[in-house]
Amino acid sequence: MYHLSLQGSATKSEIYIGSGVFSQTAKRVAETFKPTRIHVVTDSNVAPLYLKKLCAEFPLDITTTVIPAGEDHKNLDTVAGIYADLSEAELTRSDLVIALGGGVVGDITGFAAATYLRGIHLCQIPTTLLAQVDSSVGGKTAVDLPQGKNLVGAFYQPELVMIDTDILQTLPERIFNDGMAEVIKYGFISNPEIIDMISAPDFKSNMERIVYECVRIKRDVVQADEHDTGLRMILNFGHTIGHGAEKVGHFTELSHGQAVAIGMVQAAKLAVKLGEADLVEQITSICQAHNLPTVLPYPMEDVYNALLHDKKRTADSINFILVHPLGKANIHTIELEQLHQLMTAE
Ligand code: GLY
Repeated sequence: MYHLSLQGSATKSEIYIGSGVFSQTAKRVAETFKPTRIHVVTDSNVAPLYLKKLCAEFPLDITTTVIPAGEDHKNLDTVAGIYADLSEAELTRSDLVIALGGGVVGDITGFAAATYLRGIHLCQIPTTLLAQVDSSVGGKTAVDLPQGKNLVGAFYQPELVMIDTDILQTLPERIFNDGMAEVIKYGFISNPEIIDMISAPDFKSNMERIVYECVRIKRDVVQADEHDTGLRMILNFGHTIGHGAEKVGHFTELSHGQAVAIGMVQAAKLAVKLGEADLVEQITSICQAHNLPTVLPYPMEDVYNALLHDKKRTADSINFILVHPLGKANIHTIELEQLHQLMTAE
């Protein structure tokens, strides 16, 4: 088992990673908080698998909210339902909310915890690879508006993150591969050893170490730039064109990981056009080895128009993440006109 601490500006996160971590939840909660009440938020996919098991861990009665699974429900109506349940359960600011699930559950529960009573204690128990290596760590919480994804949110650190890598063994292949796109990202932006580890035929037996190496990078980056004004942007490698493609596909045709894989390949192509190292073949082959797509299925012009809504954009430029050399990410401020030209040039 691995342990990391993330010192945020207001809150310290204790992060436990490894096999069997789930069954230590009650012990770690008792070490970290003194709650009288605990409320668990999960979704309709995760509840049948882990909710009873989690509640049985604790000596006190646990109240729960089970939201419908899927990004469609990551909205303010669902948050209002969670607030109502927290109020009915009479949670106070010394009590605890646990997010048990993937990225959607983590984001929405985090946002509810950040705002209910102006902030109550939060523990994240991520149940997908993507949530384990990315969204459960670092304190970004958000919900979607009809106008766009993640438009309302807060930076709010969970004080405890329990990452049980045994959970990964039962994930459907498609969901697992989705998280692998973020794992590949960490390898290229910071630690090429991760690429070596996931290239081994039996890499799934090494997930404890692989997840730890990814979370360690995220911890270091978030600790240096919690509020995403500089270094943290490197975590968006592959995400600029990726988000554009996700948007063109109405957030249904491509999963997030698939879009990020395509976005990383496109970012590598753009780097070559800017005279940087050629990592296209390397990124393409590792993504393909993990059954991730690497070819953009939409016209580049449509993707460019979609990415103009990227949160990282300013009036006439965008912060684009390039990897050069392998294991080092750079934030490149590109004029929109130049980006358009680079994206559409053969
Ligand atoms: N998922 C990117 C970040 O946490 O900044």
